[in-house]
Amino acid sequence: MAPSTLHPLQLNPQTGEHYLRLPPPHQNIIITPLRPTDADAIAQNLNDIRVYDNLSNVPHPYTQKHAEEWIKRVRSRSDELLERLREGSDDEPKVVDGCPVMTLREVKGDGTDIFLGDLTIARSSFAEVVDPDERAHLRNENEARPNGDPGIVYMIGDYLVPSHHGRGIMTAAMRTLIIDWAVPRMDCRKIMLNVRKGNVASRRVFEKSGFKFKGIVEDHLELTVPGRVGSPKWSLEIFEWTYQE
Ligand SMILES: CC(C)(COP(=O)(O)OP(=O)(O)OC[C@H]1O[C@@H](n2cnc3c(N)ncnc32)[C@H](O)[C@@H]1OP(=O)(O)O)[C@@H](O)C(=O)NCCC(=O)NCCS
Repeated sequence: MAPSTLHPLQLNPQTGEHYLRLPPPHQNIIITPLRPTDADAIAQNLNDIRVYDNLSNVPHPYTQKHAEEWIKRVRSRSDELLERLREGSDDEPKVVDGCPVMTLREVKGDGTDIFLGDLTIARSSFAEVVDPDERAHLRNENEARPNGDPGIVYMIGDYLVPSHHGRGIMTAAMRTLIIDWAVPRMDCRKIMLNVRKGNVASRRVFEKSGFKFKGIVEDHLELTVPGRVGSPKWSLEIFEWTYQE
């Protein structure tokens, strides 16, 4: 059992790793922190056009070094969130602005698991806002809000290995992240997302998770990561989720 300050995270006593478990029929899938051993799987999947073609922040080609740097950053953020949560008590649990687990894994019958993808929540960067001054203003305002402020706007990024697409896994994971974690442990009240126009699978995941379609920003997002600069600007579909009692 994980201490109650970390609820609803569970603890794997063998590995010392915290995790969230998806509900049936996906109870063999857990969400854990990233591991240093994930670099190969990340590099393989982020070089797969079925995955990276809909992710704006992924350099191409995506190298082992990119994966290793990413893992370092994400693990340090994950440790920071766990540390903050442990400072809480039963009477005064800490509210944080992220989730310390983000890596989907399928647990096999023999207890080993395989990497399935990523699901990350963070304060919004307002990438869908067209005016750069307004975007910067919204970002700064959002960053300045204290944890738990109901005015904070969050965003979510996700991908799943192609072998597991279309089985309802990301929808189940999205609901687990929002309902089991973001609402009770982050006091999350609003999430804004943008999806590349035409990414039907992603759009469906958000619709099935309670997001409302808010409109399209045409020819807006310029890709700025190595190997993808100069690509045509993306049109974005905007989705919003707000907390309902
Ligand atoms: C988007 C993604 C995470 C979805 O994960 P998933 O586990 O396959 O999603 P689910 O199975 O929960 O739901 C997918 C839905 O899209 C539908 N769908 C998928 N491809 C479709 C297509 N080409 N046309 C119409 N519907 C499609 C599925 O039928 C399903 O909807 P349904 O339940 O109403 O039938 C996965 O496709 C992925 O990793 N894509 C690449 C990265 C990406 O796009 N990330 C999101 C960036 S915003």
